[in-house]
Amino acid sequence: MKVVVGSNDKISKLIAEDFINVVNKKENAVLGLATGTSPLQVYANLVKANKEGRVSFKKCTTFNLDEYVGLEGTHNQSYRYFMNENLFNHIDIDKKNTNVLLGVGDYKKFMNQYDDMIAKAGGIDIQILGIGSDGHIAFNEPGTSFDSLTHETELTEQTIKDNSRLFNDISEVPTRAVTMGLKSIMNARKIVLIATGKNKAKAVYGLIKGPISEDMPCSILQKHKDVTVYVDEDAYSLVK
Ligand code: GLP
Repeated sequence: MKVVVGSNDKISKLIAEDFINVVNKKENAVLGLATGTSPLQVYANLVKANKEGRVSFKKCTTFNLDEYVGLEGTHNQSYRYFMNENLFNHIDIDKKNTNVLLGVGDYKKFMNQYDDMIAKAGGIDIQILGIGSDGHIAFNEPGTSFDSLTHETELTEQTIKDNSRLFNDISEVPTRAVTMGLKSIMNARKIVLIATGKNKAKAVYGLIKGPISEDMPCSILQKHKDVTVYVDEDAYSLVK
């Protein structure tokens, strides 16, 4: 596990370069994408690089980590909406090659096909992850099996509280989600994780130093052979 410490500005640029390098080596690369505030600057850098002609996503396929159960893709807090607004609408990707789990309708059927779809596309070449304050990655909350594939899950009170800042009221935050599993994530060939701010310090400690335990879902990444953890000083403070 490689660790890079720097400002959000710096680490977001470095992660964008990791993605650009992968795509420039393999034009039909499969990209694993995440939502949350952490990757926002990474996506802004990718949009800029695409507009400048430094990278093209025309032949890429993407798979997002997760989605809230109960939200339509048009809801402004759905992860489909987030991805369209912050990345897909601004780059040259073919929208039909962008996959985000569904949260309504026949979402279970789609969820059950997701890992096979990823495998058929050739597997994820590079996966970006954020991290929850309780150490969750995607929506794999503490206690999730390391063998999990894409599944439906209940969100913890902590996650509902953390994510309520983006909703008008905590009562509007969905309590369930569909998410790629920990095994699905570990299948990615390369993983980059971004964490900033003091409220991530405990999770980052568990990620880098903690025992590998299902109580700290991110700790499984210690077993992956190509992970780079990008953190700012605050998120790194307990490790230091
Ligand atoms: C949500 C997402 C995660 C994300 C986490 C952290 O729970 N499901 O994928 O990593 O939030 O979000 P943020 O980057 O906004 O702190």
